[in-house]
Amino acid sequence: MSRRVYIETYGCQMNLADTELLSGHLCRHGYQRTGDPGEADVILLNTCAVREHAEERVLGRLSALARFKRRRPEVRIGVAGCMAQHHRERLLERAPCLDFVVGPDAYRRLPELLGGDAFIDVRLDRRETYADIPPERESGVRAWIPVMRGCDKFCSFCIVPYVRGRERSVPLQAVLEHVRAAAAEGCREVVFLGQTVNAYRDGTATLATLLRATSQVEGIARIRFTSSHPADMTQDLIDAMAECPQVCPQVHLPVQSGSDRVLERMQRGYTVARYLELVDRLRRAIPGVALSTDIMVGFPGEDERDFSATCELLRTVRFDSAFLFQYSPREGARSFRWPETVLPEEKARRLREVIRLQEEISAEINQSLVGQATEVLVEGPARRPEGWLAGKNPQYKTVVFRYPRGAPGDLISVRVTEATAHTLVGVAEPATGRAGATGGAASRPVAPAGGFV
Ligand code: SAM
Ligand code: SF4
Ligand code: F3S
Repeated sequence: MSRRVYIETYGCQMNLADTELLSGHLCRHGYQRTGDPGEADVILLNTCAVREHAEERVLGRLSALARFKRRRPEVRIGVAGCMAQHHRERLLERAPCLDFVVGPDAYRRLPELLGGDAFIDVRLDRRETYADIPPERESGVRAWIPVMRGCDKFCSFCIVPYVRGRERSVPLQAVLEHVRAAAAEGCREVVFLGQTVNAYRDGTATLATLLRATSQVEGIARIRFTSSHPADMTQDLIDAMAECPQVCPQVHLPVQSGSDRVLERMQRGYTVARYLELVDRLRRAIPGVALSTDIMVGFPGEDERDFSATCELLRTVRFDSAFLFQYSPREGARSFRWPETVLPEEKARRLREVIRLQEEISAEINQSLVGQATEVLVEGPARRPEGWLAGKNPQYKTVVFRYPRGAPGDLISVRVTEATAHTLVGVAEPATGRAGATGGAASRPVAPAGGFV
């Protein structure tokens, strides 16, 4: 009988994709996925180390899951992902129920290692891309496809380059194989993933090459990518977005701060002026493009003027949405050694302020969509109201709407009747053979294909 594995995922979309990879790999080695930790032989948490809070959640969850091991001592509990790589053997002291710790470059060996004793495998491998391992997908209509792993940017606050290792790209042909396989499984949308996905490179092929090649794949109606780094956003990539109708008008472009002084200390490699010029070029080339971002408040040395500059940037750009974070010192990252100059209550105040500001902007943008039509890729039933459907529009904005006949994978034109900061509500338009309005100037959007699970 096959052994059952239960996996929980924390962190970013890269981790979601890694869980699908782990799932596919383990299933081909005699395991079966279960959604119930109570019946699992192996319990695996695929973790994130980007902020302290993310790690605390995992430690809390591990002590709750330890009860399954007390009931059935043969159960094996493990930690995979970025927190595994960050803490290594120290994790065993903090979570005594653990049997194994496996880093992001050691997944290939996991089935074999699970056959033996307790283990820690956190070797980084600068060539590992898992290009040959087919994932077991969790989402029916959208395929998350990692096209690069690791990061070489070394922003001063960030742990990712240390836990994910050096940047490496999946060969172009292997990516296209994954795209074709996803289309054959019924996926209508692909999202290319990488920490700096627009730094993708295979010989002379770039992300622009990949977008153009993917738009030739039959069955794929929508193409997205995340996260883009402002310093790697080339004109050729913008041109490819503009010329391929399947590439959605949506870019997640983390800016972090609106102050040059802070950006320099963060070692981000661009200035506010350069960022604004990029936003301008994107908006001119791609009508109706949705822009989202990441902002961090309370970075060491950030004073009131720097913070005001960040608020000013939000007002100037008017992002459709943003992920907003308080700075969290990460051991190993360069800024860990710098004294924290912003008190916790002040960080919390700045965070509340940017959240309030961004909610206001997102709500205003969404309100302006009421009365317009937008194309929705149906994902399934809405959580509520009962009987409604939910999906995303080209700008990756959640749309819930009334329509009795839609099925996952359908593209349906929806007229927006109401809007909040996070959701559009609407009614399906009568079918005309093909779904109606797509991205374009008619529909401006929210929520990025990025973020956390
Ligand atoms: N690679 C992406 C980029 O450079 O834009 C970001 C990836 S990172 C995993 C996601 C976001 O987490 C970052 O954009 C940043 O805002 C936030 N982040 C990273 N390190 C952080 C830290 N030490 N404290 C708080 N937020 C952090
Ligand atoms: Fe972290 Fe910077 Fe790399 Fe993004 S680009 S993953 S913030 S080091
Ligand atoms: Fe977290 Fe690792 Fe992603 S640190 S944000 S899960 S790359």
